[in-house]
Amino acid sequence: MGRLIMGIETSCDETAAAVVADGVAILSSVVSSQVDVHRKFGGVVPEVASRKHLELINQVIAAALAEAGLVFNDLHAVAVTYGPGLAGALLVGVSAAKALAYGLNIPLIGVNHIEGHIYANFLVEPGLSFPLLCLVVSGGHTDLVYMAGHGCYQLLGRTRDDAAGEAYDKVARIMGMGYPGGPALDRLAGEGDAGSVLLPRAYLEEGSFDFSFSGLKSAVINFLRRSGQAGETVNKADLAAGFQQAVVDVLVDKTLAAAGAMGVSTVLLAGGVAANSRLRAELAARAEKEGYRLVCPPASLCTDNAAMIACAAYYKYLRGPFAPLTLNAVPDLKLGEERYEGDFRRKIFTG
Ligand code: KG4
Ligand code: ZN
Repeated sequence: MGRLIMGIETSCDETAAAVVADGVAILSSVVSSQVDVHRKFGGVVPEVASRKHLELINQVIAAALAEAGLVFNDLHAVAVTYGPGLAGALLVGVSAAKALAYGLNIPLIGVNHIEGHIYANFLVEPGLSFPLLCLVVSGGHTDLVYMAGHGCYQLLGRTRDDAAGEAYDKVARIMGMGYPGGPALDRLAGEGDAGSVLLPRAYLEEGSFDFSFSGLKSAVINFLRRSGQAGETVNKADLAAGFQQAVVDVLVDKTLAAAGAMGVSTVLLAGGVAANSRLRAELAARAEKEGYRLVCPPASLCTDNAAMIACAAYYKYLRGPFAPLTLNAVPDLKLGEERYEGDFRRKIFTG
């Protein structure tokens, strides 16, 4: 059955565990969402998230094993997201993974959450050849990443303020939709006319691959305020469509410009906002027109899950090194960075 890696993911508000064979065959993928718990607060409450992870983690791990038809002793390695994310939330997954690695005497692999999102593409297509360009759009990140090989990341651009998913969630909230607003706004936008409410697009300096979405969010607030003062009723579907188009235009333009600048022929899409219907459709159409290949995971692998963590871990398993049992949560972990606090091997080798 190949190398069996269990992935564990608790960086935000989903408690997830999965078993993946050889980085490609998903034997199980269990995601327990806390969305209903956080909805009444209008967003994720960190302390509540970590408490919920603690309640759920053992059941989710047991369910992932059972769904895969395996027992603990069948596992070859255990992988866990150790950053970036909420400290208290990450700690639950990291502690569970360390206990499993220690108890089963198998390697522990620390995975960066963003790396996991990117590797959801390798679950879909393990034979992808480098170099690659990936647009990562999630609730916390909007990154354009160039990959020269497995584990080799160059950050070409990032958001200077709100992440794309954050902008979706905030605008949805302003428009009176529930949490998380991204999927609801996506649906509503599908019923609207994107041309009837024109909103600004922030391209920033010439040649920049950075993003900015806070001005767009302010423009939506101002539009609603002006309409209210003028006593006009707002067509919410048109406003949602106008907002979505402004986000998608910038994401698509900058992604394809970066692909051209870096000379890559294959473009990847990753992160929760990669589930957005308009972004998927428009990036696919423009990529085809301009001669790029677009790879995009199914929506269920775009939002947070542990199969993507087990997949990223497989390639780290092949190249090593493994994480020490002193692995800690690193809330501000950067892509391509390994931060093993209290790394006992480093102490041994450096004296
Ligand atoms: O990657 P993810 O599951 O968690 C983070 O790592 O942040 O991304 C969650 C984000 C949320 O902001 C959510 O509103 C957004 O992805 N999202 C969407 C859609 N589905 C999820 N945004 C727009 N359209 C969607 N269909
Ligand atoms: Zn995520």
